[in-house]
Amino acid sequence: MSQNLMHASIEEAQKFIDRHVTTVAQAGMRQRYHFMGQCGWINDPNGLIYFRGEYHLFFQFNPFSGFWGKMYWGHAVSTDLVHWKYLPVALAPSEFYDDHEQGGCFSGSAIEKDGKLYLLYTGCSNQGTGLRQTQNVAMSDDGIHFTKYAGNPVIVPPSDVPQDCFRDPKVWEHEGTYYLVCGAQREGHAQALLYCSRDLLHWEYKNVLFESRGEWGNMWECPDFFQLGTKWVLLCSPIGAGERKVVYFVGDFDYTTGKFVSHTNDEIDWGLDFYAPQTFLAQDNRRIMVGWANEWQWMKDWKDWGPTYQEGWCGSFGVPREIEIRDDGRLSFVPVSELQSLRGDRRSVSELHVTQNQVVDIQAGDGVSFEMSLVIDMLRTRASSIELSLRKGEGKQTTCTVDLAHGLVLVDRNNADGWSQGISKSPLNVFGKHQLDVHMYSDQSSLEIFIDEFTNVHSLNIFAPSSQNRIEIKAIGGEAVLKHVLSFGMQEPRGE
Ligand code: FRU
Repeated sequence: MSQNLMHASIEEAQKFIDRHVTTVAQAGMRQRYHFMGQCGWINDPNGLIYFRGEYHLFFQFNPFSGFWGKMYWGHAVSTDLVHWKYLPVALAPSEFYDDHEQGGCFSGSAIEKDGKLYLLYTGCSNQGTGLRQTQNVAMSDDGIHFTKYAGNPVIVPPSDVPQDCFRDPKVWEHEGTYYLVCGAQREGHAQALLYCSRDLLHWEYKNVLFESRGEWGNMWECPDFFQLGTKWVLLCSPIGAGERKVVYFVGDFDYTTGKFVSHTNDEIDWGLDFYAPQTFLAQDNRRIMVGWANEWQWMKDWKDWGPTYQEGWCGSFGVPREIEIRDDGRLSFVPVSELQSLRGDRRSVSELHVTQNQVVDIQAGDGVSFEMSLVIDMLRTRASSIELSLRKGEGKQTTCTVDLAHGLVLVDRNNADGWSQGISKSPLNVFGKHQLDVHMYSDQSSLEIFIDEFTNVHSLNIFAPSSQNRIEIKAIGGEAVLKHVLSFGMQEPRGE
């Protein structure tokens, strides 16, 4: 499925989706409970907001093919972050500032003002002087149909910022003033720029909120900035920062200077497929993050986007995660409690002894779509490492090694499915710990592994058939004592 439609309108895009949605829905690699587009390509989550009793999720969308192209904004709503209802495409490239073939309506965010829903997004165009990125506004009375503001663009790149390195506005309000942070580059270094406005339409440049001196790359995609408890958090997806691809900074922010000073940073997700997350406040003030379960071609570990383009689609989002701040200033990313409504058949073992080099089978749902957790009893475990084999079968498997001797987590998908490649690796602090918890979410084509109180996360895609459905645990170098081995089959969200 691929079609080159010059400037296809929202209605044309919608017709195309309606023609393909049924076929794509039957494709073998479709996720069972993770969010996907109805067809075509998706990347970054955009415009996340709780508005008039519903969660709105917009997303970077090329409905016409399983590859990135000219970008639209797809749209879906939910009352529980689990069951999603698709709405018509919200934004289509149409104006001189957002109509380039390799551009369109790029990422951005949403905010409510006077009962209306406003979208702030990057328009990517080329009027003969190279790719140019500007910030633009679209608004809606009903939260479904959007009108682009006649005065767009509302922010153009500063003269010393390359005009193709100025994107992804994230907006918020504080005491009657609107603020926006966006990614930029100056003198080859990444920056997050801060703007402010009284009406969302007229913006004033305030300051460089935070910047790289080279160690954090040359451009930050999708910066997000918010208060969490007494601290402030900046999330971004840096380009050119070596191993680091999706990071957080925790620190202090002063509205009068517009400066952020950070004292703690770490990786949001060490896995091979997690990028461009965006956060929003849930109805009950939880800070929730949704990320794109993929990565770009230019990234170190990129292999390819998997076989799903042959099925007419590509891309899903990781499970929504609640961000919490801990006493040591680090963040944890806990899958939202709403996911529990999908829990099906439950299995539990209160204590499991796995002797040296023994391989123990574990049951969790159908071995493809499941949630599973366990706790390693560090006081009684003598094993130097514990290996969890997931989606095993047909001579293939993905292996998560919790290396207690070296303080490492490794997730190896080199023999996962004959398609994916790579090993993700993170440091693991085991010193002085009495126990270590592991939580997993598995779906048709993804694995998400949360270790050490949800501070150490690995998300990755694997494109394994359902016949790869065994789970095994092995202890190396001594016995492992595992407590509370608990699993649930995950049901498909029903209803919409
Ligand atoms: C991040 C990103 C954004 C951009 C969008 C384009 O994944 O590159 O910077 O707005 O994707 O689709």
